[in-house]
Amino acid sequence: MSLLEISNLHVRAGEKEILKGLDLTIEEGQIHALMGPNGSGKSTLANAIMGHPNLEVTDGQIIFKGEDMTEADPDERARAGLFMAFQYPVAVPGVTVTKYLRTVMNAHREARGEDPIPLKEFRKTVEAAMELTEVPREFAARYLNEGFSGGEKKRMEILQLALQIPSLAVLDETDSGLDIDALRIVAHGVNTLKGPDMGVLIITHYQRILHLVKPDVVHILYQGRIVKHGGPELVAVLEDKGYGWIREEVEAGAAA
Ligand SMILES: Nc1ncnc2c1ncn2[C@@H]1O[C@H](COP(=O)(O)OP(=O)(O)OP(=O)(O)O)[C@@H](O)[C@H]1O
Ligand SMILES: [Mg+2]
Repeated sequence: MSLLEISNLHVRAGEKEILKGLDLTIEEGQIHALMGPNGSGKSTLANAIMGHPNLEVTDGQIIFKGEDMTEADPDERARAGLFMAFQYPVAVPGVTVTKYLRTVMNAHREARGEDPIPLKEFRKTVEAAMELTEVPREFAARYLNEGFSGGEKKRMEILQLALQIPSLAVLDETDSGLDIDALRIVAHGVNTLKGPDMGVLIITHYQRILHLVKPDVVHILYQGRIVKHGGPELVAVLEDKGYGWIREEVEAGAAA
């Protein structure tokens, strides 16, 4: 059984059809990279996987761990083990990092029929996660993402990842805006956490993170469809040649 199996997915936002028959399969524990030009539908796919209420699935299926999640609400998906780090993380004024993390962790525990996490265990878990992501201690008392720099927000999301260890983590441009050190920290976090229990879908424009987190498969999204798969070598070709040749291939295929 595949971890995630998306077939013939058609998604619209309002009147606009954005995903137009997309297929994507991820096996358990694999790392997949999703690349593609601006506006091709990468974030839309991530949002559709998470069940964003503004998107309408008009055709196709999203099967996660053998269960049809196409119509499931975002909560149900999160409980099933889907996690997303956003391209533009939002601030949550008035809620401290500690409180937020504890709420999220307890929600997951409750969904599994477990009791809330004891304070001592929570502190230990968060400390280990903070160490892994090199988030300074004093961040625990700050309001979530409020006044955080771009890089700090991204590291905070990896920290959340470390606390949740979801079955599938979708990282939408978690690497953009990171300095070299922060990029290494994020990559180290992902490499430490990945494994048979956690698959990763990395959405990115750049090969630098894919040098640090080696993808098993690279997909290219173009105008709402995955038009090409390959191994890591595909990333170097894109970096070298851009997306023009993809467009030519797609147009030649359509004309044939
Ligand atoms: N709610 C919406 N209403 C109308 N159009 C939308 C909506 N959401 C996304 N789109 C459009 O769908 C297309 C795909 O957007 P998406 O954000 O998925 O692209 P992307 O591949 O993530 O791009 P980038 O690389 O710039 O992040 C864009 O043309 C965008 O303007
Ligand atoms: Mg995007």
